[in-house]
Amino acid sequence: MDLSRSTRNLTLDIVRVTEAAALASGRWMGRGEKEKADDAAVEAMRMVLSTMAMDGVIVIGEGEKDNAPMLYNGERVGNGTPPELDVAVDPIDGTRPLAFGRTNSIATVSIAPRGTMFDPGPFVYMDKIAVGPQAKGKINIDDSIPENLNAIAKALGKPVKDLTTIVLDRPRHDDLVAEIRKIGARIRLIPDGDVAAALMTAMPDTGIDVLIGIGGTPEGVLAACALRAMGGEIQGKLYARDEDELRRGNEAGYDFDKVLTMDDLVSSEDVFFAATGITDGELLKGVKYYGAGARTESLVVRGLTGTVRRIEATHMIDKLHELRAIKY
Ligand code: FBP
Repeated sequence: MDLSRSTRNLTLDIVRVTEAAALASGRWMGRGEKEKADDAAVEAMRMVLSTMAMDGVIVIGEGEKDNAPMLYNGERVGNGTPPELDVAVDPIDGTRPLAFGRTNSIATVSIAPRGTMFDPGPFVYMDKIAVGPQAKGKINIDDSIPENLNAIAKALGKPVKDLTTIVLDRPRHDDLVAEIRKIGARIRLIPDGDVAAALMTAMPDTGIDVLIGIGGTPEGVLAACALRAMGGEIQGKLYARDEDELRRGNEAGYDFDKVLTMDDLVSSEDVFFAATGITDGELLKGVKYYGAGARTESLVVRGLTGTVRRIEATHMIDKLHELRAIKY
């Protein structure tokens, strides 16, 4: 028996974490206060994580120890009892859209057995390519864009012109966008939120076939956890913003040329991923507040079984205030 496998189904445990972050930070929608929104999400997440029966370590967190009370890398979370887990958090993926009242902001968390998640250290960007189950095994981040798009189109059984790529709208992607246009695939340019974008490749209803481009490393690891559970694939490569970052990375033992496969990013099947909508989005509805209560929509996936659950929850805010010191 593989003892690294948790015997418990932690679906409900982790969805409570993202629900709490969404409920707390959703109050900040459109108020133009990115940091306050982030603080609210982090504090709520931290509080609920502390109630989980686990011995968790934050591998993908928010900043360093000195910034406490943020969820810092290396922080222990949970009540200290087994299972021993790695924890990745992005309390708000889409802080800007939340603060400025736009769509597609979500709260996300992943857990996997201890030592199975990639630790990107302080390196913030990763080049990524992500696809759903049908194109799994057909991508190679070292190949050219035309080679990858042709391989994906073949796997999906459609011409390249019918492929829909999704790309973060950033000046650093100007060449990438030009290359995709040249080969004739469609492009969805998104202002933020490449965790949701990666997940969408594994959900045929969204019409998204492939995520390409440079985004956050935390988001890359979280997307890997979700795609591992959903049967898709993501490959990444750490991306240095300048020579100095490259040098520091090399000194710290990071290889920026190495292709980070699914196994490098999260090496266990026994992975859980949860996301809750904060503002309305394509993937999830945002938080709706109504007097004494609020409604949330979440997605939770479990790697061992591949089960994907959508959980719509109603929360009685007054009751929650009696139980927890989180301000919703
Ligand atoms: P945060 O809300 O956590 O800041 O991330 C938003 C996001 O769009 C991510 O989804 C993406 O990976 C990253 O930012 C891209 O970074 P940048 O905005 O610096 O290009």
